[in-house]
Parts: sequence; C-alpha cells; structure tokens
Amino acid sequence: MKPKSLVNISDYGKEDIQRILKSATAFKANPNRDLLQGRVVATLFFEPSTRTRLSFETAVNRLRGRIVGFSDAATSSSTKGESLKDTIKMVSNYADLIVMRHHLEGSARYASEVSPVPIINAGDGSNQHPTQTLLDMFTIYETQGTLENLTITIVGDLKYGRAVHSLIQGLSYFSPTFNFVAPEELRIPEKYKLFCDKNSIQYKEYTDFSPESINCADILYMTRVQKERFTDLMEYEKVKNVYILHNEMLNNSKNNLKVLHPLPRVKEINQDVDDNPKAYYFQQAKNGMFTRQAVICDLLGLPI
Ligand code: CP
Repeated sequence: MKPKSLVNISDYGKEDIQRILKSATAFKANPNRDLLQGRVVATLFFEPSTRTRLSFETAVNRLRGRIVGFSDAATSSSTKGESLKDTIKMVSNYADLIVMRHHLEGSARYASEVSPVPIINAGDGSNQHPTQTLLDMFTIYETQGTLENLTITIVGDLKYGRAVHSLIQGLSYFSPTFNFVAPEELRIPEKYKLFCDKNSIQYKEYTDFSPESINCADILYMTRVQKERFTDLMEYEKVKNVYILHNEMLNNSKNNLKVLHPLPRVKEINQDVDDNPKAYYFQQAKNGMFTRQAVICDLLGLPI
C-alpha cells in the first residue's frame, strides 16, 4: 500500500486540516521534542527557497530528526541526466520522508506514485504549495479566532501563484468570500473560478486595487509577481509593480484585518507597512515551522 503523502491541499479534508492546525498549536507551545529521534527526512529542492526549506529543516532539527538533501539541484545527479523517478527511488532508500520542491507541475504527484515513503510537496511549479496553505490557515485562525465566513482579498499574481491556488482550495471548507485582485494578464485561472462555483463560494474579480477590496477584508493576502514563470520577460516588466500596498491604504480597513504574504516580497508591500500592527507576514512565516512539524508527524503516523 502506498504511504500517505501531501501533494495537493485537497489530499487533506476539513477534519485533517483541523487536526493539523490543532497539532501545530501544540508544537507552537512546545516545538522541541524527541519525536523524530532515529528518523531521517530528505529535502530535495530543485528550485530556490528560503522559508520553506529552512522551516522544514528547523522543524526536523527541533524534533531531533536528521536531514539529508540538497538546496541546489546543480549539485545533484539530475545534472547528469538522472530521472526524477530514479532520484526518488534512491533517496527513499535513505530517508523516511521526502520533502520536494520542483519546477514541474505534477512532479510531486508523480514522485508520490513511485515513492515507498511519504512525499510532501514543497511547491510544484505554479500548481500547489499545500504546506504554505496550512501555515496560512493556522495564521488566519490565530489572528481571527475562526476560519469560518471570512472575507479574503487576494492580490497580485493569481495566475502563477501556487500559494494562492492551494489557499482557495484549503479555505473552501469554511465558507469564505474571495476578492481576486489581479491585472488582466495574471487573473485567477478559470479552473479555480469553476471550483468556487461548484463549492458555492462567493467571489468578485477586480483589476484595480481599490479601497473597497481592502476595507471589506478580514485578510489581505498580498503576493509577488512570479518572475520565474514568465517565458517573456517583457511581459513580466509590464506587470511587476502593478500593485503596491502602502501604509496609508490601511487607514480605513477593519480593526481585525491582517496583512499576509507567503513571501518573498519584492515591492508589493512597501516597508512602511511593516510596523503597522496589521502586518503579520513575518509571524506567518514563523508559523511555518510549527505547521510543518505537524504535517511531518502526521504523515509518519507519530502521535503528538
Ligand atoms: N513562501 C515560500 O515558499 O517561500 P520560499 O520560496 O522562500 O520557500
């Protein structure tokens, strides 16, 4: 039987998500434990990362597990032509669980199909970033006290942003209302609108970053334009700084509003927002460590 993996956020149902968030709360209270003593986790990053890789690795270190892997595929035998299948088969000889980021959409699903150990998708192209969504949902719950019936305004690159795609699906169990703010070129793909329709989720689309879309929100989720996904850099230049959040734009926002961002940011949140108590993106990134501890233990079947 194939082990349980986390490839798409839809691999977890509502109760699974609630279980992970509860475990993450316990890890936030006490992140240093012996739960992974004698276990090895591999981190295979075929694409760059700061937060995801380091928070996974810190998560394992704080649970007394060991880490193997690479942060630059140029140092792996993939540069000699080794296939993804063979790489996964080899690494699963050494490790109890594999965390993988790869530029190809569907690569994590493929890895999970050939792997005898659990795979965690740490981002596959523009497709999915499920552990980002779990840490986002943990942070939303932490700041709002609920996940139910919230208005979430998502701004920026809704076409290529994998964190956005996973977030829409993850929140779908909790009756959200979405405002999708994107330039014409980076609009939310049709399949996510169909997903919302099918799940009776209300949404509006905007091309301007209007006060209306900010002032009605409980969560303002800013995103970076994903330069690495553009085949024509002239197209990137046209949209790269299309929306920039400045501090005064939050003046009439709701008291409970929190500004989130999966990070890294480029210019889409001006630094004058950082000291506003509504800015919560650095705390959000910290929550990644606790959420990833919860996911690793869940997939390895370790009681918390
Ligand atoms: N949010 C996120 O995935 O950040 P990194 O690319 O730094 O891992």
